[in-house]
Amino acid sequence: MDIAEQKRIAAEKSVDFVKDGMIVGLGTGSTVLFMVNALAKRVKQEHLHITGVATSKRTHKQAESLGIPMKSIDEVDHVDLTIDGADEVDKNFQGIKGGGAAHAFEKIVATSSTRNIWIVDESKLVDRIGRFPLPLEVIPYGSKKVFNRLQHEGLNPKFRKDDDGNDIITHSGNYVIDLHLGVIDHPHLLANWLSEQVGILEHGLFLDTVNTIVVGTPNGPKILE
Ligand code: 5RP
Repeated sequence: MDIAEQKRIAAEKSVDFVKDGMIVGLGTGSTVLFMVNALAKRVKQEHLHITGVATSKRTHKQAESLGIPMKSIDEVDHVDLTIDGADEVDKNFQGIKGGGAAHAFEKIVATSSTRNIWIVDESKLVDRIGRFPLPLEVIPYGSKKVFNRLQHEGLNPKFRKDDDGNDIITHSGNYVIDLHLGVIDHPHLLANWLSEQVGILEHGLFLDTVNTIVVGTPNGPKILE
């Protein structure tokens, strides 16, 4: 079974957790794309009254076009449940996100959410996180200084570029620097250090955030709690 199929299986299972009346955070990425399709189908078939809060313009547009009523994060006083993808997650549910450069918005929605569910294919489950480059959203002013500091600390930074060699720009107009670390031995220490660095808006370490992981496997969806 290919990866896309595993993503679809996880995504379709995850929408079972959505109940009538909920305010639902909608993540970003190819797995979330499947999830939003499945959620829209439930909303239509079961006449559910939910409100979606998207973590990117892409997701907002998709959800709205499929008839899910949407609000912005500042228009709601809480989020009941957020369903999002992830790039890597270990057995303690510590993860890396931001492969789609949306991790700042994703973290704002996740930390406003009573419950967080991640939907992943099996390849995202790892013993130790860090093989996936750790994304940082960095404000353009002084970004070379931030880059030099990261390099000096041996964190192997690289500005993220598109296929034409142009800098990736986030929704907030910032750059993305990826840290090529191989393995992260002490995620909390690194997260704390990164949070203290001026110029870094947000890092992609999502620690102690997620409650439930739905994994798509060739044998069907597996729920980890
Ligand atoms: C975007 C993210 C995504 O959730 C993550 O990159 C997983 O994406 P995909 O479902 O396409 O594998 O964090 O910033």
